[in-house]
Amino acid sequence: MATERDLRPLTLESDWDPHSPEALADPFAMHARLRAECPVAYSDRWDGFYTLTRYADVVAASRDTETFTATKQTVIPASPRKGLPRLPLQKDPPEHGRYRSGLNFFFKEKRVRSMEARLRETAIDLMKTMLSGRMPAEYGTGFAGPFTLWTICDMVGLDRGEGELLGELSHAYVQAVQSADLSSAGELSRRIDGFAIDIVAGRKAEPRDPETDMVTGLMRIQPEDGAYDDTELAGMIRLMLIGGHVVPRNFLCSAAWHLANDHALQQRLRTEPALMRPLIEELLRCYSPNQALVRRTTREVEIGGRHIPEDCPVALNFLSANRDEEVFTDPDRFDPERSPNRHIAFGMGPHICIGMSVARLQARIALETLVSMTRSFRMTGEPAWARWTEFGVTKLDLTLDAGKPV
Ligand code: HEM
Repeated sequence: MATERDLRPLTLESDWDPHSPEALADPFAMHARLRAECPVAYSDRWDGFYTLTRYADVVAASRDTETFTATKQTVIPASPRKGLPRLPLQKDPPEHGRYRSGLNFFFKEKRVRSMEARLRETAIDLMKTMLSGRMPAEYGTGFAGPFTLWTICDMVGLDRGEGELLGELSHAYVQAVQSADLSSAGELSRRIDGFAIDIVAGRKAEPRDPETDMVTGLMRIQPEDGAYDDTELAGMIRLMLIGGHVVPRNFLCSAAWHLANDHALQQRLRTEPALMRPLIEELLRCYSPNQALVRRTTREVEIGGRHIPEDCPVALNFLSANRDEEVFTDPDRFDPERSPNRHIAFGMGPHICIGMSVARLQARIALETLVSMTRSFRMTGEPAWARWTEFGVTKLDLTLDAGKPV
């Protein structure tokens, strides 16, 4: 049992603030300090929360869904709970399995592999447009944004017209969240809910091919405890549309940023294609775009000598865990051939990213296209960076040298 003194109330002095100038300027140095001095770190931002910064603690909490529930909160600051549920993310096992098992069909290896040809075509078209325009070209809006948007549209079975509206809504939503404009974010979130609800209503009225259209496919599935209702269908589609688009966009921008600053590595990729796979894993480790996701404690819990009260938000900091010196040798060194590479950029436990094979395919096609259609590329000006709880480059001006007219 904890003593009175150990049960520190949520009026503690902060160990850190994810929005402080120091944390924003150098999150890696901040995380290293926390891992060494205060691995279970308290912040008084957003009414107070703890952050787990060490790999072992993040893994253990991700797996212990009885103590760390996803049903009450998954991000901080908390998103409004009035709208559609984000499924399966906001369910703990065993309910979580009801949604996860239905969605698994759409992420089978064969199905993901079958997306490659169309994705490559899309990537080449986008690169051609970038190369034929004025330089510098902005990689986020010119490539990473539309490429990840069209991927998710293809996966879910949305027409390009439906995708345009989704792109506008999600872009505005992310801008509002990142600039801490929570009232606009709430309004846009409702519009995204409406978008998902309309998709479900449309597919109910006119079902499509269940093999390629996710809503129609999910409508046909008969889980043991009954078919999904409209709210469940819309909740699954909503999470897919936003989770499968915003985070991968930042990741592709971070990857391009890294390569733009390392010409020797760009050149190696042009001549050593086998380097691509380990490189992508190292990019995921070093630039984990989901910096942190959140759970709430279902009981008072002690981690590393620190007591966290019941019903308290706890952030699982994947970005910090992926640079934990207890797990990774020389963690701040970027090693494109690192092996083994046990990063947890896709999370761990029951909520481990369902879309990871899509994300890896997307990254491989995007980077192969970037290096094969250019002789070199470099960054122009300063990039823009995402803020907590995301991480990574959001805007990247590139000067691309195609070597020959495209
Ligand atoms: C670089 C790209 C990506 C990264 C780093 C990433 C990361 C993550 C992480 C860390 C989680 C765990 C959440 C938690 O424990 O609270 C997660 C869950 C999830 N991701 Fe991804 N993701 C990526 C791409 C995608 C894509 C492309 C899709 C869809 C096509 C997707 C769909 C989802 C869904 C639906 C969940 C919830 C799974 C569940 O609760 O069972 N993600 N992702």
